[in-house]
Amino acid sequence: MIGRLLTRLIDAQAAWSRPLGDFNHRWMAALLKPLGPLKDVLHGRWLGHPLHSAVTDIPIGALLVSVLLDLLDLRAAADVSLVVAIAFMLLAAVSGVADYVDTDGRARERATVHSALMVVGLVVLVVSLALRAGDPPERTVPVILSIIGLLLVTAGAYVGGDVVYLLGNMVSRHAFRGPGTKWVALDLAPTGLTNLGLLPEATPTRVRAGINDLVVVRVGDSLHALHAVCAHAGAPLAEGTIVDGCLECPWHGSRFRLGDGRAQRGPTVYDQPAYEIRTTEGGGYEVRRSAG
Ligand code: FES
Repeated sequence: MIGRLLTRLIDAQAAWSRPLGDFNHRWMAALLKPLGPLKDVLHGRWLGHPLHSAVTDIPIGALLVSVLLDLLDLRAAADVSLVVAIAFMLLAAVSGVADYVDTDGRARERATVHSALMVVGLVVLVVSLALRAGDPPERTVPVILSIIGLLLVTAGAYVGGDVVYLLGNMVSRHAFRGPGTKWVALDLAPTGLTNLGLLPEATPTRVRAGINDLVVVRVGDSLHALHAVCAHAGAPLAEGTIVDGCLECPWHGSRFRLGDGRAQRGPTVYDQPAYEIRTTEGGGYEVRRSAG
C-alpha cells in the first residue's frame, strides 16, 4: 500500500525528471567520454560489481551516526562523521554519474529523481558542515540541517533502490540463468544455412538453442557462441560489431571477449554467458554453456 503510493508519487515526477534526465545525459556523456578506461573504474568492472552500490551505504551510515552524535552533543565526533559522510557521498556521486550516462527510459527518469534528492541533500549537509566551522556554541541550525539532509538522502536511497530492484538497472540480465551442462541442438533456421563454416567472417549472427537466442561468430576456422542478450541492459548482441576479438554491444558499447564472454569494457561489470559448439553425427551442431 505504502509502496504503491510512493511509486505513484515518484512516477508523477516524470514531467520534470524525463527532460532533465535527457539533458543531463547529453552533457554528462560528453564529459565522461574522454575518460576512456577510467569510466570503467567508476562502473566497477575491476571489482566485478557495481562500484556505486558498494560505496553508497557508507555515507548513509556515517550520516546517521553523525546525527545521533549531534543529539548526544558529542560535537567533534559528530563533525568527523559528517565529513566522512560528505566525502563518500562525493565518491558515490562520481560512480553514480558513470552508471547514469548508460541508463535509459524509466530507469533514467527515476535515477534523475534519485540524483536530484542526493544533490539537494549534499548541499544541505555541506551548509551544515560550514556552519560548524569555528565550533560555535549554538549549533541548533546545523543539527537541524543534518537531520533534513539525512531525510533527503534516505528518500534518495529509496528511489535509487527502485532503479535497481524494481527496474533491474545494473543487474545482470543472466542472473537467473544457471550453468548448463547439457548439450542442446542448435537451430540454424534464422541463418538460412546448414553449415556454420559458411557464415560471413566476423559477423554476429543470431541462432537458437532451445529457449535461448545465441550469437555465433566465425573468425577464420573458429566458431564462437555467446548469449544474444547483453548482460548489462539486454541489448540484442546480434546487432553488435566485432572489435579487437570482442563482440561490442550496440547500445552502450560493452565489449565481451568472443572466446569466453569475459567483459573487456564497460559499462557492464558482468561477463556474458559463452557456449561451446560441437558438430553432431547427423551433420548439425550442438552447444553447451561453458563453465564460468
Ligand atoms: S545493453 Fe548496455 S552495454 Fe549492452
